[in-house]
Amino acid sequence: MKILVTGGAGYIGSHTVLSLLNNGYEVVVYDNLCNSSEVSLQRVQQLAGNTVEFVQGDIQDKSALTALFKQYPIDAVIHFAALKAVGESTQLPLAYYQNNVHGTLCLLEAMQVANVHQFIFSSSATVYGEENAVPYVETMTLGTPSSPYGASKVMVERVMADVALANAQFKGVSLRYFNPIGAHPSGQIGEDPKGIPNNLLPYVAQVAVGKRDKLNIFGGDYPTADGSCERDYLHVMDLADGHVAALDWLIKNEQFTGVEAFNLGTGTPVSVFAIVNAFEQATGKTIAYDVAPRRAGDLPAFWADANKAKIQLNWHASRTLQQMMEDTWNWQSNNPNGFDS
Ligand code: NAD
Ligand code: WQD
Repeated sequence: MKILVTGGAGYIGSHTVLSLLNNGYEVVVYDNLCNSSEVSLQRVQQLAGNTVEFVQGDIQDKSALTALFKQYPIDAVIHFAALKAVGESTQLPLAYYQNNVHGTLCLLEAMQVANVHQFIFSSSATVYGEENAVPYVETMTLGTPSSPYGASKVMVERVMADVALANAQFKGVSLRYFNPIGAHPSGQIGEDPKGIPNNLLPYVAQVAVGKRDKLNIFGGDYPTADGSCERDYLHVMDLADGHVAALDWLIKNEQFTGVEAFNLGTGTPVSVFAIVNAFEQATGKTIAYDVAPRRAGDLPAFWADANKAKIQLNWHASRTLQQMMEDTWNWQSNNPNGFDS
């Protein structure tokens, strides 16, 4: 089976490519490297002892996509390629809709022409918006996320539903990730944000390695047990394995057509203070922090109802918070400047 992985050089993509190779899949990665380095794929190949075909290109380049599907007999597509910075998306909404929505339309069109109908999409917990109560469950109506980034994910889920109505062969899976953190235990691949990290764990890791003075904890007055926000953090290797489980499920369920959504999370909320504590415990490093004002757009707490993936995909997030912290630190301390180290 040959799987096209768009955005496969990125953080979640590279870990997923490794899991795919380790599970006997052949992989073609298509990535424009706008937020990643090809070094990630070299490392993935070393870890897997296997090769990956890499094609550099943009998902908005229709002729390149057409050529790609002509060159490779693709069985299924896992679509990670997207811009993902929530704050940036409020400044550059057109770029986000262009890349994430228009880019996905180009990809789906190229798939249709090539008669490829199996599609796994990187969605996000953000699609539940502010309206839904926690824990989030897949049967809920999609909400209205506060950022263009979040809205782009809702739009693509809508597009997938309409494509499935029009194309009786379409087999779509939308994987709604909660908060992926950590790295492969080898320390060879991990999250390599450009500039100042937006997300919590990369920031904590950069404080630990001495690249940032201290962490700002955004808000200590939320209506949660310790006053900081709670999220559902899952190990990126569990998330990677979740993609393999979804792909296995799609392939095994020959009769299935349409679109199915799955939450990929642990089902357990963890606070920002608890993350800082867990990181300090697991690494022996002290994290200097200030409690700062709330960050615009943050919800107090959200986590997954993780039962559907457990029952239908036979997948659950098994790695512990301690492993997430150890693996984050192993990656960061061995690669203080990411793939440029
Ligand atoms: P990432 O930025 O590390 O990976 C995205 C990859 O897509 C990068 O390699 C980038 O170069 C590539 N890319 C972007 N636009 C492209 C284009 N037009 N053509 C070709 N390649 C392009 O991000 P990630 O954290 O690995 O996220 C992967 C996917 O998961 C994204 O769709 C993201 O929205 C989604 N997601 C991420 C999180 C998270 O917390 N990291 C949570 C929920 C959903
Ligand atoms: C986690 C918690 C912050 C940084 C985002 C997207 C979501 C998904 C995952 C893609 C929050 C706090 C953070 C810092 C802090 N991405 N924090 N100091 O906001 O839950 O989710 O990434 O789909 O769509 O919105 O993740 O890692 O940014 O924040 O106190 O320097 O850490 O306030 O409570 P978030 P995050």
